Amino acid sequence: EGSAGVDVSGLLKETGLVTLDPGFVNTASCRSEITYIDGDAGILRYRGYPIEQLAEHSTFLETSYLLIHGHLPSQAELDGFSTDLSRHTLLHEDLKNFFDGFPSNAHPMPVLSSAVSALSTFYEESLDPFDRRAVDQSTVRLMAKLPTIAAYAHKKTLGQPFLYPDNSLGLVENFLRMTFGFPAEPYEVDPALAKALDQLFILHADHEQNCSTSTVRMVGSGQANLYASVSAGIHALSGPLHGGANSAVLTMLDDILASGDDVDTFMERVKRKEKGVRLMGFGHRVYKNYDPRAAIVKKTADQVLAQLGVNDPRLDVALRLEEIALADDYFVERKLYPNVDFYTGLIYKAMGFPTRMFTVLFAIGRLPGWIAQWREMMEDPQTKIGRPRQVYVGEPERPYVAMGDR
Ligand code: ACO
Repeated sequence: EGSAGVDVSGLLKETGLVTLDPGFVNTASCRSEITYIDGDAGILRYRGYPIEQLAEHSTFLETSYLLIHGHLPSQAELDGFSTDLSRHTLLHEDLKNFFDGFPSNAHPMPVLSSAVSALSTFYEESLDPFDRRAVDQSTVRLMAKLPTIAAYAHKKTLGQPFLYPDNSLGLVENFLRMTFGFPAEPYEVDPALAKALDQLFILHADHEQNCSTSTVRMVGSGQANLYASVSAGIHALSGPLHGGANSAVLTMLDDILASGDDVDTFMERVKRKEKGVRLMGFGHRVYKNYDPRAAIVKKTADQVLAQLGVNDPRLDVALRLEEIALADDYFVERKLYPNVDFYTGLIYKAMGFPTRMFTVLFAIGRLPGWIAQWREMMEDPQTKIGRPRQVYVGEPERPYVAMGDR
């Protein structure tokens, strides 16, 4: 009998020992050299480099190269990567037509995922997951085109014309221009904002075997191509318990302000576990200490809001929620701390992004991690198709009942 009181004798007979681990709380699915997390100590490193150092000194482009290729690039390697990306930012004109097919109020996450999935129809010659050159090409295309797709998904919801990429600009600057600019009108990218967004992308760039990355690996383990795997990862990211939490936090802060309730009343509802009431942006499967990314984001939120002269009442609510949580036994006992999503929404809002775009921004940041993990899996000779077992708890064998006898 299994620990949950379930009869697993049939399964044992068939397979030997099978562990039942809902949510994979204790099950490693792979070996990886990419990202190290010590959740108790609040440590995060990409390829051995502490997240704090990368956030301070690196760029999203350089960090992406590091994650994907395993080492910090030389100047020539970085320049080459940058040039490759700038040559692939354009979308095929036929792909642009896809955007016409979505309703104008389409949420940008499924639009993003659909467009990424469609990329595999445009580049059929380079889908072989074991052809290194083809994988490099798909890597560059994805990294270069995702910001363009994301900006178009945003413009689509506004009914505004799309802007072609300006390849004299870097990845983040180009994305900001395509998102907020207008054709034939000059758009000055604010370097401080571009730097803040670049840093946020670094903080999101990988997080080992989270829900979306595990999805990318799972889909890829069947030898599906990189576009198909990343498209699935985008869908996985969209849920409110994962990447969708960044927009859920803003909605929560707005609801608290709109309800007229004080913050303490809301926290009591959280602690009573009222249906559907959670402190969004708090808690993490792996971190049982302050999420090191959240500590950096909190500082950035202060800086960006001050710089833009934004006085957002939601920030006060967020700070008060954190203050209560850090002093309250309910949260302390469960080791619930702010995660990376708690303060990002406030920054994105101040930058002018609508709430529905927040998770899209997460996807742009997470892309190099998904690619790096997919490539590592494809190159690992130990990789097998992902195929978890189950413990069957349904009916025993029974005879089919004819329609008239049911
Ligand atoms: N608010 C209130 N209580 C919480 C929260 C929260 N945000 N998170 C966990 N808890 C409580 C649970 O009710 C549970 O209490 P119990 O032991 O009395 O039943 C306990 O803490 C453990 O929670 P689990 O849900 O079992 O923890 P799990 O590791 O499965 O979930 C998760 C982690 C999904 C992140 C969860 O903390 C959560 O829902 N957080 C809010 C959503 C969020 O911010 N997601 C973003 C995660 S980071 C990322 O994806 C980038």
